[in-house]
Amino acid sequence: MRILRTIKQMSAFSRNARLRGKSIGFVPTMGALHEGHLSLIRQAVRDNDLAVVSIFVNPAQFGPKEDLKIYPRNLARDARSCRIEGVDAIFYPEARQIYPKNYKTYVTVEGLGNHLCGSSRPGHFRGVATVVAKLFNIVQPSVAYFGQKDAQQSAIIKRMAEDLNMPLEVKILPTVREAGGLALSSRNSYLSAKERIEAVILSRSLSFAEYLVKNGLKDADRVVSAMKQLIRKKSRAKIDYISIVDRETLMPLKKISGSCLIVLAAWIGKTRLIDNTVVKA
Ligand code: PAJ
Repeated sequence: MRILRTIKQMSAFSRNARLRGKSIGFVPTMGALHEGHLSLIRQAVRDNDLAVVSIFVNPAQFGPKEDLKIYPRNLARDARSCRIEGVDAIFYPEARQIYPKNYKTYVTVEGLGNHLCGSSRPGHFRGVATVVAKLFNIVQPSVAYFGQKDAQQSAIIKRMAEDLNMPLEVKILPTVREAGGLALSSRNSYLSAKERIEAVILSRSLSFAEYLVKNGLKDADRVVSAMKQLIRKKSRAKIDYISIVDRETLMPLKKISGSCLIVLAAWIGKTRLIDNTVVKA
C-alpha cells in the first residue's frame, strides 16, 4: 500500500490505473477510521480492481468555532487499518496542496445545503461539495462510496455528481452502529462514558419513530413531536433539529408516504451528533 502525499503522485497513480484498464473504488474520509469507514472501504476493495482512501481534515467544511484543531488524527493507525483491508493507496495531502494561495473556486449545491445541518453549520456543505469535487478530479474514481450516516451530505454529493455529469458512480452504504444503536462517528471519541450512554437516546428515538410509522402514524409533525418528547423525557440532550424530509430533495414533508428520511441532530454535552433512518409507509 502506498501513501501519496501530493496531487501529482495521486494523479499519476490514477492515470496509470486507467491506462491499464483498472477500476478505482474511492472512499473519501477525514481519518480516525472506525468500522463505519471500514464498511465503505471493504465494499470499495470488493467491487473494484484498486481501492483508494483519502484522509484529509478539510478546513473548508469547519466553521470558525468548530473542532478543526482538535479533530482526531492518527495516520499510523489509519494506515494500518487500510493495509489490513487491502487498500492500494492512501491519498494524504496537506491543506496547502488542496487550497493553495489565491484559491477561489467553490461548489454550491443549491437548496440542499442551507437547512438541517446547514442552518447551524453555515458554509459546511459548500466546503464538503468543494473538496469532494476536487478529490473526484484528482483521484478519478470509477465508484465513490459514502455513508448513509451523513444523509444530507450523501444527498448533496449524489446531486452534485449528477448535475455536473461527473463520470463516476456514487454509492451510499448503510449506517454502522454500536450494539446499543449509537451510530459510529469519529466525534463519539469526544463523549464521556456517561454521555455515550445518554447518546443512545438518538437512535432509540429513530426506532420509536419507525415503530409509530409502522403502526399507522403518517403525520410528520406528530412523529417529530413524539420523538422530541421521548428525547426530553429520557435525556438531557439538546435537540438541534428533527425533521422528516424527501430522500432526494431533502424538502420537509407534512405526510409520510412512500419512503422518507427522518433526520436529527442533537448536542450531547458539548458534542453535536447526527443520525437518521429511512421509514417506509
Ligand atoms: P468522515 O466523517 O471521515 O466520513 C467519511 C465517510 O464515512 C462518509 O461518507 C461518512 O458518511 C461515512 N461514515 C461515517 N460514519 C459512518 C457510519 N457509522 N456508518 C457508515 N458510514 C459512515 O464525511 C466526511 O468524512 C467528510 O465530510 C468528507 C466526505 C470526507 C469530505 O471532507
